[in-house]
Amino acid sequence: MSEEQLSLFPEMKPPELEAELPLYRPFLPGVKPEEAYLEVKSLAALAGIMAGCSKCGLREGCRQVVFADGNPQARLMFVGEGPGQVEDEQGLPFVGRAGQLLNRILKAASLEREEVYITNVVKCRPPGNRLPNPDEVAACRGCLEAQIRLVKPNIIVCLGLLATRAILDGRATMATIRGKWFTRQGILLMATYHPAALLRREELKRPTWEDFKLIRDRYLEVKRGD
Ligand code: URA
Repeated sequence: MSEEQLSLFPEMKPPELEAELPLYRPFLPGVKPEEAYLEVKSLAALAGIMAGCSKCGLREGCRQVVFADGNPQARLMFVGEGPGQVEDEQGLPFVGRAGQLLNRILKAASLEREEVYITNVVKCRPPGNRLPNPDEVAACRGCLEAQIRLVKPNIIVCLGLLATRAILDGRATMATIRGKWFTRQGILLMATYHPAALLRREELKRPTWEDFKLIRDRYLEVKRGD
């Protein structure tokens, strides 16, 4: 397009300038680019920043920041709610009772924990394992946004309602949203029940297993396409 034509459309920029514009489109609804750690180029650097984070009050009441576990180049990413007591002690997500159940489900689906990436919406343990409040979730969303940008998973699984609402749909209910595929910016997403819910409610195990079979099949398809 010539300069002359461009001047007819003042809102359009010449291509070389366009390339310099911040083209980044946040993945998570409501996250602003300036909150998304765009300058951070590695997960290790992000983990370092998060270790010193005091954006919300949760850091004061926990032992350590629980950043993530698993393969930094995973095609499959799991996002839970927030660390519990055991996670807070060990510094890793999903290592307590819910985590052990998640490990068993992964194994049953022939998935290795080491090949997937596991994190939470909030990285610090809420006192007494209460639900993180909306301000705490908001303070941590930039980090999750950056983790998604840096891992570049093909598939994201939201474990439980908090992750589902933070990532997929702020008004979702588990019963209606689980087990369905969604696509955003080329990433496939599915919500399923949180493993901790399965420990309390036996009847959720079967639908969760149905979801995991779909997740495994899609994951194998993605891997075959490599
Ligand atoms: N529940 C979560 O949501 N995350 C954990 O890491 C552990 C339990």
